[in-house]
Amino acid sequence: MFNFSYQNSTRILFGQDQIKQLAELITPEQKVLLLYGGGSIKTNSVYQQVTAALQAAEVIEFSGVEPNPNFETLMRATDIARREKIDIILAVGGGSVIDGAKFVAAAALFEGDAWDILAKGANVQQALPIGCVLTLPATGSESNGNSVVTRYETKQKLAFSSPWVYPQFAILDPTVTYSLPPKQVANGVVDAFVHVMEQYLTYPVNAPVQDRFAEGLLLTLIAEGPKALSDPQNYAVRANVMWAATMALNGLIGQGVPQDWATHMIGHEITALFGLDHAQTLAIVLPALMQQQRSQKREKLLQYATRVWQLQHQDEERLIDEAISHTRYFFERMGIPTRLADYGIQAEAIEQLVSKLVQHNMLALGEHQDITPEVSRRILQLAL
Ligand code: NZQ
Ligand code: ZN
Repeated sequence: MFNFSYQNSTRILFGQDQIKQLAELITPEQKVLLLYGGGSIKTNSVYQQVTAALQAAEVIEFSGVEPNPNFETLMRATDIARREKIDIILAVGGGSVIDGAKFVAAAALFEGDAWDILAKGANVQQALPIGCVLTLPATGSESNGNSVVTRYETKQKLAFSSPWVYPQFAILDPTVTYSLPPKQVANGVVDAFVHVMEQYLTYPVNAPVQDRFAEGLLLTLIAEGPKALSDPQNYAVRANVMWAATMALNGLIGQGVPQDWATHMIGHEITALFGLDHAQTLAIVLPALMQQQRSQKREKLLQYATRVWQLQHQDEERLIDEAISHTRYFFERMGIPTRLADYGIQAEAIEQLVSKLVQHNMLALGEHQDITPEVSRRILQLAL
């Protein structure tokens, strides 16, 4: 196992009726920027619960944060945060709203051009405090320091990470996920699944704690994900999916082990150019990447085949083939097609995607830094 230093500062408040706790978490003296998306929170009583709990505080609302949040929109929110001398940003929504809040929190206190935080990796040295009410279990953004922002005019989807943007608290009430459309339930399960895979499916470093945690999360998502679609009002199922998604990317399972993240980096370019949902891109790229990198990932693929899918054969190549096809079938069973062509993306697009990877300096991806643009091209060809 590698050395590591781990801290996760986000307080999680989990369970039914936890939104009420906002009245204690945010004091009446604090001026709040309430950030949310396109309005789903107004149709499922989340907005009403939040505003009721914040009655005593001064609240300024900013709505319209898009899925794959838009830099321009977030800069408008940043202007408001500065002008109104906001004390805390409360993000109410999915990963896009929470990522958006993180960018606004950092940009509001950033000296210089805030785009540099994303484009040049400019160091974030302070940020406004953030709290969140999560409505879509998927990204883990509710208790990590990552944020992904898209600049639509240049079709760039870029990420930054900073310990300053961990939410101070995250409220996770599984009942608020009942209103999710099936597509977003599926997106969330697949995103969380691939987060685990990015931290697990690399090479062994004798880290059984991390491996067994990761396998537990994968097994949970495989068992509970389809139930969240077939039995959408089942509290226990929703609660287990929600907690699995948080645990998948709160930093814990990735400590002391190699990490990949090439699926995500390639996927971000697909979203930026063609507008696919984040999880759709992952469902396309991961099976192809597993196939392309099967020799580098051999030991972990065999472990994954036997421990997660309980496959048993003498023939190791067959085990790997079946592990890949089970993964693909799981995504499709969740309702997410796994081929570029399923989304109308043809072979001509591959060069465009590869040149975007080059433009963003994604030249040596993966746990061995051996996914060069040429290897990304082969992965995309396998994904057609
Ligand atoms: O905007 P509203 O009206 O709220 O509707 C949203 C949105 O249309 C809707 N929704 C959310 N909760 C709902 C609901 N509809 C009904 N009932 C509810 N309870 O769902 C739609 C999608 O929301 P979004 O926030 O975009 O989805 P998700 O949570 O999947 O976030 C995706 C974004 O997170 C980034 C992705 O790249 C993408 O931009 N990621 C962030 C990560 C991180 N911070 O660590 C890691 C991930 O790998 C990912 O890259
Ligand atoms: Zn993701």
